[in-house]
Amino acid sequence: MAKSRTTYFCRNCGHESSKWIGKCPSCGEWNTFAEEVIQATKVAAWGKNQKREKPQPRKIEDIAPDAAPRIPVSDEELNLVLGGGIVPGSVILLGGEPGIGKSTLLLQLALQAKQKVLYVSGEESEEQIRLRAERTGIHNRECEVLAETLLENILEAMDTSKPGLVIIDSVQTLYTEALDATPGSISQIRECTGRLLRFAKEEHVPVFLIGHITKDGSIAGPKLLEHMVDTVLQFEGDRHHAYRILRTLKNRFGSTHEMGIYEMTGNGLTGVKNPSEILLAQRDEPLSGIAVAAALEGMRPLMIETQALVSSAVYGTPQRSSTGFDLRRLNMLLAVLEKRCGFRLGQQDVFVNIAGGIRIEDPGLDIALATAIMSSYQGMLVPGNCVFCGEIGLSGELRAVQRIEQRIAEAEKLGFEDIVISRYNKITRKDFKIRIHTFARVDEVFGWLFG
Ligand code: TYD
Ligand code: MG
Repeated sequence: MAKSRTTYFCRNCGHESSKWIGKCPSCGEWNTFAEEVIQATKVAAWGKNQKREKPQPRKIEDIAPDAAPRIPVSDEELNLVLGGGIVPGSVILLGGEPGIGKSTLLLQLALQAKQKVLYVSGEESEEQIRLRAERTGIHNRECEVLAETLLENILEAMDTSKPGLVIIDSVQTLYTEALDATPGSISQIRECTGRLLRFAKEEHVPVFLIGHITKDGSIAGPKLLEHMVDTVLQFEGDRHHAYRILRTLKNRFGSTHEMGIYEMTGNGLTGVKNPSEILLAQRDEPLSGIAVAAALEGMRPLMIETQALVSSAVYGTPQRSSTGFDLRRLNMLLAVLEKRCGFRLGQQDVFVNIAGGIRIEDPGLDIALATAIMSSYQGMLVPGNCVFCGEIGLSGELRAVQRIEQRIAEAEKLGFEDIVISRYNKITRKDFKIRIHTFARVDEVFGWLFG
């Protein structure tokens, strides 16, 4: 019987210590150490080479660039997010809240794949997976399913069935016999991921890992997990809305600014081709408190409706609430409107909402939101055929945003007639039919709109 020992791991960075400590000496976080019992390894841990060869550094110029073609997937959104397909031998971690659709997304990928896929689930039985596959209505004879959590068995199954793509649902359910710790513990996650990583690199087979997230939104387990894998994707959205967003948090083989938009339907997830069209609420008459923003997520322009409601505060402290927009940024915008434009919002409750239940981080949204707030405050309508785009600075100036021409082109395509942008944005194209209005300050925009 191998001897076991107790050790402590930092949940944030994976730092190991023989005794419990309050502050991690490696990452500086407090109270992150967790106790784990480790069985002395029977199997050599990953990373330790069993057969050691003399290391031989090579000149960088002598190394042939890895021209391995990417494997394109039939899911266009996923293709976009991954930067043009799956890189052979890469390990991709997909995180997201429970019930958001992680298993559905990857099962669909498995069912649509051209190559042989092994879908390993530690969360659902094979029958449940079959039922889910039935729901999506896609049939694929080349997709194999295995309900298993023991890593050694999974590696053996991969060895015998030789898949071209492996999906593991989820990394937190995996465990290896080499360690005594419970599944989901830091050492288990680290060890299992490491072994899968080695499998992926040696066999040139891409591996998708599904990861649970903790209540503060980070992927459960050591932060190290995110460092180990090649790509980290996050699936997010409001569970009460049908739309889901797939973002890249890290990508060794592509940009991290891409975004995919899906809609959850009764038959699984479908990619949304024209996101702007669905993010603009359909209505017949103009209402106050609504302004459309020409936002940009990744490379993709999006027309989004921003909504605001301003009403007199009943209680002493006015309420500020926001859905889909950073609350701190909202407070900043309100302070700018108060101080630089002279509107008395201090005694008003302000509620803002981004239509469609999605979260956008583009600062170009500022002017649309400020306009929606002013429109609600003054009870005046914003023309429905006008879109807004610009960042608001602390002194009330309207700042330039990136990729302005792409945004203008999208607004024009969707039939908008006017666009408000910053004076500091340079436009070289001359053939826009949409009327472009440039302003240097926020109050100029309000003066033009509301007189
Ligand atoms: P799931 O993929 O199980 O989420 P996760 O793996 O992230 O926990 O998604 C489950 C949700 O999606 C569940 O609430 C049901 C819903 N759903 C649909 O609306 N339509 C479908 O076709 C499928 C398969 C699931
Ligand atoms: Mg799941």
